Amino acid sequence: MKILVLGGDGFCGWPTSLHLSSAGHDVVIVDNLSRRQIDVLLEVESLTPIAPMSTRLATWKKVSGKTIKFELVDIAQQYQLLLATIKKHKPDVIIHFAEQRSAPYSMKSSYTKRYTVDNNVNATNNVLCALVESGVDAHLVHLGTMGVYGYGWTGSAPIPEGYLEVGINTPEGEISREILHPANPGSIYHMTKTLDQLMFAFYAKNDSIRVTDLHQGIVWGTQTPQTILDEKLINRFDYDGDYGTVLNRFLMQAAIGYPLTVHGTGGQTRAFIHIRDSVRCIELAIKNPPKKGEKPTIFNQVTEVFRVRDLAKLVSELTGVKINNLPNPRNEAVENELKVDNHKFLALGLKPTTLSQGLLEEVQDVVRKYMGTVDESKIPATSLWRK
Ligand SMILES: NC(=O)c1ccc[n+]([C@@H]2O[C@H](COP(=O)([O-])OP(=O)(O)OC[C@H]3O[C@@H](n4cnc5c(N)ncnc54)[C@H](O)[C@@H]3O)[C@@H](O)[C@H]2O)c1
Repeated sequence: MKILVLGGDGFCGWPTSLHLSSAGHDVVIVDNLSRRQIDVLLEVESLTPIAPMSTRLATWKKVSGKTIKFELVDIAQQYQLLLATIKKHKPDVIIHFAEQRSAPYSMKSSYTKRYTVDNNVNATNNVLCALVESGVDAHLVHLGTMGVYGYGWTGSAPIPEGYLEVGINTPEGEISREILHPANPGSIYHMTKTLDQLMFAFYAKNDSIRVTDLHQGIVWGTQTPQTILDEKLINRFDYDGDYGTVLNRFLMQAAIGYPLTVHGTGGQTRAFIHIRDSVRCIELAIKNPPKKGEKPTIFNQVTEVFRVRDLAKLVSELTGVKINNLPNPRNEAVENELKVDNHKFLALGLKPTTLSQGLLEEVQDVVRKYMGTVDESKIPATSLWRK
């Protein structure tokens, strides 16, 4: 299949592009390299040395014999170029990773709030609009987040995969309807993902665009069977207070003996998935598109659920590094329960990488190798939800 990977230079997009190229698909990466630019502005770097795009692509050609093309496009701001790119490549599938994805960054200032809304909402609307205008019948696979559901308010009931059956009392008696699960975003970033959902529902209904929305948990891990083939293919590993995801931050902190930064009591319960499973899920989603005219298909792209303090305890026991409970910069429930329905991917054959299998490998192979490059001043989370 011909596949456009929007945001294919990023943490999830790069290993997905390699995985799909390796599986024989014709992959074109579309990216504006804004994530690299944000690193420059924040004065942080990935723990792992990420090569420039042209080096990444040349190395992939050398080790695999396969070609991945690259188009430099800002999909939020350069609509005509995006449209021309879609018309030129006529993809069967478009995978959409190209959004500002850090909740703390989105809450940093009025500039980052406005940038996140402008970038993410325009990006999604432009892709959908360009699909309609071009007439290219591509299946759109979008990376959403578990955060659209919010945390805790469904009690101990598992979060369903996107839709909820509700009963409505009418004068004629109760009627049953399936609705999008109510949105309950916890940051500006998460809010943009809830807006994405409405756009998908609208364009699927109005224009019969085929959409799959993957509500992904927090991704951990770094390497996939393809990124490990050459150091110039290595995936990024963010550890800073804005872009670092919780488990990767704990692993890096443990490696340098920095007390593990648990915010509040660590009672937050969150859903997780390894990067290797994330790329497999995307491949499964591509193989199982919705039919034209159907509402968007929604999967919960999650393999395990953990409480943050339990994760910290696990890493602490593994490495002997202490835990440091810090004030929580976020405005979120101190403790929450979380159960997630993820039967759809399991039914399609996903075999999850569990934390207990993958953790030690990650500490030894990736974090210890590059820990000499850590800038400790970038570890604290400084973005506040409320000033
Ligand atoms: N990393 C996670 O833990 C996680 C969890 C849940 C969901 N997601 C979702 O997966 C997607 C990818 O996340 P990631 O961690 O790879 O993020 P990332 O920031 O590493 O990658 C995003 C990529 O999109 C590009 N991009 C952003 N705006 C663009 C634009 N306007 N035009 C062209 N390119 C643009 C960036 O340059 C970057 O290469 C995001 O939408 C994110 O919300 C990620």
